Amino acid sequence: MVSQRIIKQRESLPIFQFRKDIIDAIKNQNLLIIIGETGSGKTTQIPQYILESFEDCRLIGVTQPRRIAAITVANRVSEEHGTRLGDEVGYCIRFDDCTSSRTRLKYMTDGVLLREATLDPRLEHYEIIIIDEAHERTLETDVLFGLLKETHRLRPELKILIMSATLNVEKFSDFFNECPIFVIPGRTYDVAINHHRDAKISSLKSTYVQRAVDTALYIHTQEPPGDILVFLTGQSEIERACLDLDDQARELNYRKDVKYYNEVKDLVIYPIHATLETMEQKAIFEDPPKGTRKVVFATNIAQTSVTIPGIKYVVDTGFVKQKSYDPSTGMDALLVVPISQAAATQRAGRAGRTAPGKAFRLYSRESFEQMEIETVPEIQRSSLLGTVLSLKKMGIRDIIHFEFIDPPDPILVKNALKQLFLLEALDENGNLTPLGDEMCIFPLNPFLSRVLIASARQFECSREVSTIVAILSVEEIFITPRNGEKLFEAYERRKEFYHHLGDYVTLLYIFEGYRDSGYDRDWCRDKYFNYRALSMAKNVRDQLRELMEKHGIPIISCGQRDDEDVHRKKRSKKSYYEKKAKKYDFAKILEAFSSSYYIHLAKRHPHRAVFYHYASANVYTSEMVDSNSSLLALHISPMSALHPDNKIVKIDNLDWVMYHSVLYTSKALMKVVSKVKLEWVEEKLKLFKKLETVNLDGDDKRKEKEVKSDSNKNTVVEPNKLEQENDVIE
Ligand code: CDP
Ligand code: MG
Repeated sequence: MVSQRIIKQRESLPIFQFRKDIIDAIKNQNLLIIIGETGSGKTTQIPQYILESFEDCRLIGVTQPRRIAAITVANRVSEEHGTRLGDEVGYCIRFDDCTSSRTRLKYMTDGVLLREATLDPRLEHYEIIIIDEAHERTLETDVLFGLLKETHRLRPELKILIMSATLNVEKFSDFFNECPIFVIPGRTYDVAINHHRDAKISSLKSTYVQRAVDTALYIHTQEPPGDILVFLTGQSEIERACLDLDDQARELNYRKDVKYYNEVKDLVIYPIHATLETMEQKAIFEDPPKGTRKVVFATNIAQTSVTIPGIKYVVDTGFVKQKSYDPSTGMDALLVVPISQAAATQRAGRAGRTAPGKAFRLYSRESFEQMEIETVPEIQRSSLLGTVLSLKKMGIRDIIHFEFIDPPDPILVKNALKQLFLLEALDENGNLTPLGDEMCIFPLNPFLSRVLIASARQFECSREVSTIVAILSVEEIFITPRNGEKLFEAYERRKEFYHHLGDYVTLLYIFEGYRDSGYDRDWCRDKYFNYRALSMAKNVRDQLRELMEKHGIPIISCGQRDDEDVHRKKRSKKSYYEKKAKKYDFAKILEAFSSSYYIHLAKRHPHRAVFYHYASANVYTSEMVDSNSSLLALHISPMSALHPDNKIVKIDNLDWVMYHSVLYTSKALMKVVSKVKLEWVEEKLKLFKKLETVNLDGDDKRKEKEVKSDSNKNTVVEPNKLEQENDVIE
């Protein structure tokens, strides 16, 4: 039964009075754009209106850019609809499918729909597709736009709805054959904007968390009742801010310090970010106890994806964590960057949803004016590796001329083609190879799909590699406490699992420890491992193995004895590594990884603990950055088993390593680092040379030659050349 309270809430949303008009518009149009203020009820209500009015509609698919949004919205809507989650209303995100044969309304990430479209471009299962939060312009949403245009040609009866929060949607309409735009009239209130008097945004980078906490405290003590929403950029910042504010608020003498102490007697603080469990999230949407003020520290998710009721004050730090293409590695890096003016306006708007509000910007008006007008769409600043592989799988040959709403820089496409060639997913003419085709089976980063297939088809260790790949596909498994003593303890506990060959093997050991504990939560807590991540990894591993079985990809162990499901109960004092009865053929595991990660091969400086990327100079950067720029110095992350301080391996014994990714702090840190033997990769390295002669994008070769200037050759690092040049590098 649906409660009266929920019915009332639904009917009080701005969208409710337009219910009939919206349904009529959807009935009359197969391509339609709907815009409305954030919080007006688009995401939760429109799919329900459709469910209620189109009774014979089999399946409605609604995309969300964020996993956590797909889950919370599906939760909320199933409650409003009076059914159990996964029944009539469900969600599907990568590795977590909560739908059933009865599901008629499916919330999913745009990535999931994109994968489904790869397998079935006609999207036959669906009668209505809704691309929601289109203004976010994620990479996947943009690719879906192009694909759906084609689906519309193939299946004009499929109803396609684009929902967006911003007014600037003429572009969407132009793209979708000038389709009509339905505007939900908004009801927003004035928001008074306070800029910091003179703080330049560029000077705030190291202080904005503290300043945001101070500002929240200022509002709490000086302003009338009303909840506060603070925009930060990521989990660790948010956790720190929650603790800091809590500490400071405890010291308040309400009668003396708090201006409105009759109405504001206490503070409740909530974090909201992508890795939070859904149950924790629910409280955020509820009213705080009477007499208390709610403060929510949030990532960008609260900008437009989720609406927290009761917000009257917004604190805008001016920063966001954003995917940014890193030309020196050919991968995406997550960087904290200033937001755009459009984003700042959206953020401020969150304060005026139900009554007039106030926004506090930590930066000056001048800084605001210098911000980019709009956020650059993700497709123009991300690695297109996975995207290009999917498009190739769909038989789209000429990717540079694919119909994108905002085309990516052809260099990004070319770099993705090059990487796919190096992974042997494409042949010399840019056609998908059988290996590339097989890689599409897995919903993984193509590097990892390649490794998994190599481990099964070539190196006979896919049982172990599927576990490692699963861990690499979930959130961080290490918990890093902030408290110095605990941090030391965490590092000490972790050491037990460190392996001298590096982090791939270490991860395998950690998983086995977890397995031998009986998948125990307390064991994880004790070792400072993230239980949620490890249990997710187990789930992912099982799904990968299911896919392998289904497609006839062998699951083979390189261990001497297969005791996969036997939980050893005895615990001795010896380190995990010492007491391991089971020996693996580690070389096989590493060789399997090197089949992809030879692309991330790095050589050590002869006298120092610094490494240089072997291939970056000639593969990715040549066309993107000044060819004279110096080589990027890479350091081993302190989280790695191979970090010199751990004394697991002597740095002199580490000539060549392969790394998984690069994290930029004050230094460039290699994450997940392993030893590699040059003889494993020598053959593969020849593919780099071959890149010069191949014709991957179907363009004529002449163009390829034009962009390859001779001066670039100087930055190519040859394996042996480094040694001779060691005095001049850096
Ligand atoms: O999509 P749009 O921004 O137009 O609005 P929505 O996400 O459908 O939100 C409509 C209302 O539902 C807002 O007032 C939200 O606060 C509320 N809501 C909620 O209470 N709990 C959720 N998990 C999601 C939304
Ligand atoms: Mg929405």
